[in-house]
Amino acid sequence: MKILALSGSLRAVSINSAVLRAVRHLAPSSIEVYLFSGLGDLLLYNPDLEHAPPAVALQLRNEVASADALLIASPEYAHGVTGTIKNTLDWLVAFDGFVDKPVAVLNATSRAHHADAALRETLVTMSATLIEAASITLPLRSANIGEAELLAMPEIVSLLTGVLTKIQRAVKLLPEMKPFLGSSVYIDSQHLAIVAQAAKLADGCADDEAIAKRCFEFVRDQIKHSWDYRLNPVTCKASEVLIHGTGYCYAKSHLLAALLRANGIPAALCYQRLTLDGDQPPYCLHGLNAVYLPQHGWYRIDARGNKPGVDADFCPPLEKLAFSIVNPLEQDLPGIHAEPIPAVVKALTENQTVEQVYHNLPDVAATAQ
Ligand SMILES: Cc1cc2nc3c(=O)[nH]c(=O)nc-3n(C[C@H](O)[C@H](O)[C@H](O)COP(=O)(O)O)c2cc1C
Repeated sequence: MKILALSGSLRAVSINSAVLRAVRHLAPSSIEVYLFSGLGDLLLYNPDLEHAPPAVALQLRNEVASADALLIASPEYAHGVTGTIKNTLDWLVAFDGFVDKPVAVLNATSRAHHADAALRETLVTMSATLIEAASITLPLRSANIGEAELLAMPEIVSLLTGVLTKIQRAVKLLPEMKPFLGSSVYIDSQHLAIVAQAAKLADGCADDEAIAKRCFEFVRDQIKHSWDYRLNPVTCKASEVLIHGTGYCYAKSHLLAALLRANGIPAALCYQRLTLDGDQPPYCLHGLNAVYLPQHGWYRIDARGNKPGVDADFCPPLEKLAFSIVNPLEQDLPGIHAEPIPAVVKALTENQTVEQVYHNLPDVAATAQ
């Protein structure tokens, strides 16, 4: 696997370049990290040059095309990105080989957050696939640190090794998992509140399974089920569920999917068709999640919220859902979904109060088993 590393600083003793060299040093033999050194030689981008791009621009584009992923580390200048990295990206805007390219962004210090946010916005606009899990801020306080010093800092070595592992995993999984990693209208995993909560939940976790468990427990225990608590407003988007602290099962599943995706963990929506009460009609849909865990594959979890008689948990590979199927017309609906099904969106966006939702719960016809 090849990672193309781009530093947004031309400074001889740049910390961003040093970080990328440290990553190259830490890479296992299965990963080649190539640090492109010609960014200072790129002409300022001019669309008029597109008919015959200069040699360095062509070289950059070739490297981008042949790389499995890009890793960018760039400083902040006057609360913006550096001209070097913006010019580099401008040369890639009209280049098809950049579209969908997995990209991770390293921010050397938490002091500089404007450039990091702006860089991410530009990359997403250019249709890159941002590898959130590998895009981290390093806890560095000084710009005067070289590669050797970075490699002598156990915390930095651990973070950068994690970046390599996460890029490698994302590249392997992306084609199949892309729909389950993306941000969308209802699973808005790039919303600032979601990104912040996802980072908080991931803090100190050793691996994706630990992060997934934390996210599950947060949504199950800290977000109130709207009907259990008779709590308005009716929420649908993941960010609304987080901000208001409440949601129906479907809405809570949107939040859990968004928190997992914001951590780079593939997450899907699943549905069951259940009786509302006892073992007779009426029926309604119940929303839950499936999370992709490297050790176990797709694993179903139900964060609707526990109560007497409901005891869902995260204990892979054992499945411990909130409800089991008890009669022939109830069923685990087949399939995993990247987006909520229309009946669910309709119920959560066309009803104004939790009582109205309860009287218009979504349902679909039973499918042949
Ligand atoms: C022209 C200029 C503007 C800067 N503006 C900011 C800034 O707005 N915010 C910030 O946190 N640091 C700012 N810095 C500090 C740099 O981000 C910091 O020195 C960084 O380490 C430089 O990266 P490098 O070591 O890779 O060259 C600025 C530095 C320069 C040279």
